[in-house]
Amino acid sequence: MTQALESTPTPLTRLPTGVPGLDVVLGGGLFRGGIYIVSGTPGAGKTILGNQIASHFVRDAKSRALYVTLLAETHGRMLSHLQTLRFFDPASVGNTLKYVNGFTTIESEGLAGLLKLIREGVRTQRASLLILDGMLTAGLLARSEVDYKKFIHELQTWVSVLGCTVLFLTSAVAVDSATPEHTMVDGIIELQVRRTGMRALRELRVTKFRASSFLEGVHPYKISAEGLSVFPRIEASLVPKAVDRPSAERISIGCQALDGILGGGLRTGSTTLLIGSSGAGKTLLALQFLAAGVEAGERVLHFGFFETPPELVSKAQRFGWDIGRTDDEQRIFSVWQPASELVLDELAYRLLDAVRASGAKRLVIDGLVGFKEAAYKDRMSGLFASVADELAALGVTTLITGDARAVRAYHRGTDERRFGRVPQHHLSATGRERLGAAAAAHRDEDARQRA
Ligand SMILES: Nc1ncnc2c1ncn2[C@@H]1O[C@H](COP(=O)(O)OP(=O)(O)OP(=O)(O)O)[C@@H](O)[C@H]1O
Ligand SMILES: [Mg+2]
Repeated sequence: MTQALESTPTPLTRLPTGVPGLDVVLGGGLFRGGIYIVSGTPGAGKTILGNQIASHFVRDAKSRALYVTLLAETHGRMLSHLQTLRFFDPASVGNTLKYVNGFTTIESEGLAGLLKLIREGVRTQRASLLILDGMLTAGLLARSEVDYKKFIHELQTWVSVLGCTVLFLTSAVAVDSATPEHTMVDGIIELQVRRTGMRALRELRVTKFRASSFLEGVHPYKISAEGLSVFPRIEASLVPKAVDRPSAERISIGCQALDGILGGGLRTGSTTLLIGSSGAGKTLLALQFLAAGVEAGERVLHFGFFETPPELVSKAQRFGWDIGRTDDEQRIFSVWQPASELVLDELAYRLLDAVRASGAKRLVIDGLVGFKEAAYKDRMSGLFASVADELAALGVTTLITGDARAVRAYHRGTDERRFGRVPQHHLSATGRERLGAAAAAHRDEDARQRA
């Protein structure tokens, strides 16, 4: 006999995780009442992620959470590890966030005992988030697969009625992806640590997420004192903009002779690569471009890897360009970072965040080599196409400095010798020579004037 399904579906509500970047990957967060697996090798950051979500949940969502560990590791030890992380609030422990150790229960009473412990804990804690850390132990100590399936099924039925969201943290990796919990849960987030050369790269991947689209593929993440930060792969996360390019409007590069060569200056919203060997005057011309913006009352941004902001200001001052001037309104903004141990996506987000926060209309990226040093440099071409598109939509005119080596790295992986989607601004060999010569002449003239 078949029975009609009579229950009306309840609308799904999202639960932001509060983990930077993760909600973008998940399309808005986890679903209330859903069961999710976070899997990863030892040290991948599962415990940190679980606690970060729980801390956000009790702090920002003003809710209550229960954290059950199935590990031999004591709570005291785990809590003292968590003290090093900024999101952790010791005042919430034992109050809105309760920790319970289920290891001895599962050892003596099996999964039935664990289920009883969890039910009791969730009820007394009035928890709407439950985290089970060390699910591999539950799987290993289960009497049979049927027993384990029954445990997950009962938990599932019961939490969906309560609207309690569950996270299973497990070190069972992809090869075990056909385990009962993998097939039964609503979503799977994998954390992986991969070695490339001397570096270790942390990567997050969502392999299953019921009832929603999500950003597929690999997304880099980092662990710091702030906890986990995910950098959704930039080409996947930026929405392509329909911008009319090239723009007819032109702005001065800051050097009359060059404006003439370029047919009246740079097109607004364009991205131009300024190539030259070391010492050719790239940074100087870039500063001149920014100074012209400041002079015209625009906000400008310098995004660099080499000279620190004070060094740049004094360099510009030596040429009479007062980019350090502080008047009523700040016009010059700069972001500096050493070019080491960075991830391409993290850099691109820093760049776009700084552009948006400053409202700059002129941008200098000094130089391309800083991006070349970052992890995932093979993706530079695709990534820059997305970034250039976003910058054009923001009405930003960009100048990127680079030497021949960095430019080769940029082109690696593409058949077309193109610069993002703005080939019209890739200066030809002769154009480049003329540009180099004009810049050098201009620099000499400026130096003579100073003397
Ligand atoms: N303050 C910090 N700054 C940077 N990285 C940190 C910091 N604290 C911890 N880590 C990193 O996080 C890792 C530990 O993460 P976590 O304990 O969440 O891993 P796990 O996936 O739960 O591992 P296991 O499977 O062993 O339980 C450490 O190995 C270290 O690399
Ligand atoms: Mg752990």
